[in-house]
Amino acid sequence: MEKFHFEIPGPERKADAVDFINEFYRFDVKINGTGGLNRYVDDYEGWLEKLELDYFREADEEKVPARTYFLIRESDDRIVGMINIRLALNGKLRRYGGNIGYCIRPAEQGKGYNKVNLYLGLKVCDSYGIETVYLDADIDNPASWKTMEALGGERIREYYDAEFAHCTVVDYRIDVKKALAEHPEYDGKLLQIIAKINNKNTSEVFS
Ligand SMILES: CC(C)(COP(=O)(O)OP(=O)(O)OC[C@H]1O[C@@H](n2cnc3c(N)ncnc32)[C@H](O)[C@@H]1OP(=O)(O)O)[C@@H](O)C(=O)NCCC(=O)NCCS
Repeated sequence: MEKFHFEIPGPERKADAVDFINEFYRFDVKINGTGGLNRYVDDYEGWLEKLELDYFREADEEKVPARTYFLIRESDDRIVGMINIRLALNGKLRRYGGNIGYCIRPAEQGKGYNKVNLYLGLKVCDSYGIETVYLDADIDNPASWKTMEALGGERIREYYDAEFAHCTVVDYRIDVKKALAEHPEYDGKLLQIIAKINNKNTSEVFS
């Protein structure tokens, strides 16, 4: 069975990260949940600095503190997915976007990896004391909303979003502790995460 863990992006992942993003362009597939990496492919170091600012920022109506992780497949130590976890919500994110954005690299989609990605993301949310996670997806993106449903997501709204998505959007709510307790089958492995960001050691430990 494959094992996975989250890793805080650090300088040593540059080549793998650029390759990860370029795969989306090659396959012409939507990118989501990368913490903006797709806008920084030519400035990976600048992106690492941005991630640190993202983590330590105060929540306001424009931005909220967020964590971005690589989903690493342990068998080949490769980035197979990413997730961006908003640790607080403002009015804008409550209307659209919610707590979590994610993606799995195109060649690895459809293998159940995003269920592991979301499960580990919920573990992170739990460690930050987030009890309920709000997510949304375009109705024509079943791979996304089926991931939410696989983790016990409850559909709370379906509406046409004329402001951001310009399509029908489905809103979901996940009770974090319940999802973790009821879906151990998606358990990956959260190692002690240690990454160097701007020469500072950052460590997070999840059990
Ligand atoms: C959405 C995304 C992350 C799903 O990743 P994935 O690893 O392919 O998803 P999984 O294999 O874990 O599958 C999750 C569920 O979706 C279903 N699914 C996967 N691909 C599907 C597809 N093309 N059509 C319909 N259902 C699909 C799976 O069967 C599974 O549901 P199940 O548990 O009921 O069987 C991936 O498609 C992606 O990166 N898309 C581009 C970015 C994006 O759209 N992000 C979400 C924005 S809201």
